[in-house]
Amino acid sequence: MAKPTRSIESWGTRVGVILAVTGSAVGLGNFLRFPGQAAQNGGGSFLIPYIVAFILLGLPIAWVEWALGRYGGRKGFNSLPGIFRSVWGRDAGAYAGVLGLIIPVMIYMYYVFVEAWCLAYAFQYLTGGLRLGANPGAYEDHFNHFVGINQNGSAFGTSAIWFLIVCFVINFVLIYRGLSKGIEWFCKWAMPALVICALIVLVRVLTLGTPNPDLPDQNLVNGLGAMWNPAREGQTMLQSLARPEIWVAAAGQIFFSLSVGFGIVITYSSYLKRDDDVALSGMTAAAGNGWCEVALGGMITIPAAFVFLGQAFVDNPPGTFGMGFVALPSVFNQMPAGSFFGFLFFFLLFLAAVTSSLSMLQPAIAFLEEGIGVDRKVSVTLLSLITALGSGFIVYFSQSLLALDTIDFWVGTVCIYLLATIQVVLFAWVLGINKGLEELRRGAEMPVPGWIGPIIKYVAPVYLLLLFGWFVYDQVRQTLDPETSSYLDTIAENRTAQLSVGLVLLTAVFFTLLTVLAVRRWRENEAAQQEASS
Ligand code: ALA
Repeated sequence: MAKPTRSIESWGTRVGVILAVTGSAVGLGNFLRFPGQAAQNGGGSFLIPYIVAFILLGLPIAWVEWALGRYGGRKGFNSLPGIFRSVWGRDAGAYAGVLGLIIPVMIYMYYVFVEAWCLAYAFQYLTGGLRLGANPGAYEDHFNHFVGINQNGSAFGTSAIWFLIVCFVINFVLIYRGLSKGIEWFCKWAMPALVICALIVLVRVLTLGTPNPDLPDQNLVNGLGAMWNPAREGQTMLQSLARPEIWVAAAGQIFFSLSVGFGIVITYSSYLKRDDDVALSGMTAAAGNGWCEVALGGMITIPAAFVFLGQAFVDNPPGTFGMGFVALPSVFNQMPAGSFFGFLFFFLLFLAAVTSSLSMLQPAIAFLEEGIGVDRKVSVTLLSLITALGSGFIVYFSQSLLALDTIDFWVGTVCIYLLATIQVVLFAWVLGINKGLEELRRGAEMPVPGWIGPIIKYVAPVYLLLLFGWFVYDQVRQTLDPETSSYLDTIAENRTAQLSVGLVLLTAVFFTLLTVLAVRRWRENEAAQQEASS
């Protein structure tokens, strides 16, 4: 296929691209989502399906994305519709690639709202405004009011909206500056900075000992046990592992955490040169993310909450964000120099969130520029308007965070599985596993093991299908059971959920229509180039 006409961007350094991909991966998922998932799904036993999902899905699919991206980049494309079309050799590829626009753009819409909470909390610690006593209830009230959980529209009346605007400006200024001067520059200092902040907080947590001598069981060792012990009271490790939910949750966590199935890694690696290494870089980024998740994220939140608030609180934190935004502020309040550690924790969350949210914008920027042919100013303006409308919707429908939750379910879970599956099929079955592995191995600075071929070709698709099959079965079962409420029930009954699904569909239609235009434009370019060369 002929090359499109567009301005070519590239990464400045190899370390820069690795830090950018690691930055995309390390985010709120590592520090907020992982501890919650692990604690709810059997603690230490969660690590077994987690590691299995990393080996059979996470790393192989990350490699698939690195290799497909560099392949597409060589053909002159940086967006998923363009890359998939060039791999498949048919226009249908471009339409399959639309998922790689919907996913990052829609996840950005809610992710940046949570990023704004982190910035707000860091700021409030810096200015001494978050000392509400030891009772977690006070922090829960503060959080609920701040993000508008009690009533739709109420978040517009708090400073959350101002912090959201600041986050939008930071993201779009960086994205406007471009790949090397914006994303790479930011990740190069933000990644080391956030790791240093996390290490300082971790040392503080690991030296907590037994803060309340009247409660000797609430000590650090038991706190680490709450996170890592494979057996629970009344449940052995094997009993935990026998629950399919834990396998689905672990795979979902691996995808979300590695930013795999988002369309991001492909876009980032499309800016590499023909013989740049992708195997070692992909492995380094995936390992760096795993380290931040398990050694930092997993070791800070749960042990700290356990020693101050106890097992009962850890088992039932208030809501999805309760551990981060309710438990930890109460914990910081009870430790010496708590404001300092509170600031460090939320500031590192904010840095981690920005390096991820930035990466969610690049796929659509690349598409608008190469597909529609607009320049950076127009692409940034257009994308900022689209995402501002989407975020505005999510901020408005803040009651019980239902809009956020619904979009996270359909886009951040269901669509990610679909895109990951499409990528594996394209790599192993359309491009062909031998050609794919050749692409992965070219320029590789580490040996790529032979067993990765059958894993990508057979094991990963079957594993994905099994997980997805169980997931669908579980949703249908919950829908048919009058005692439980599924996402489908919520959509049938709740107007906010219906509108949220409507927003997902609207975004899908919008990007599909743009892809129709892009395909027409690419065809015209190809015809013109063919004519010129004949
Ligand atoms: N991978 C990003 C995170 O973990 C999206 O937050």
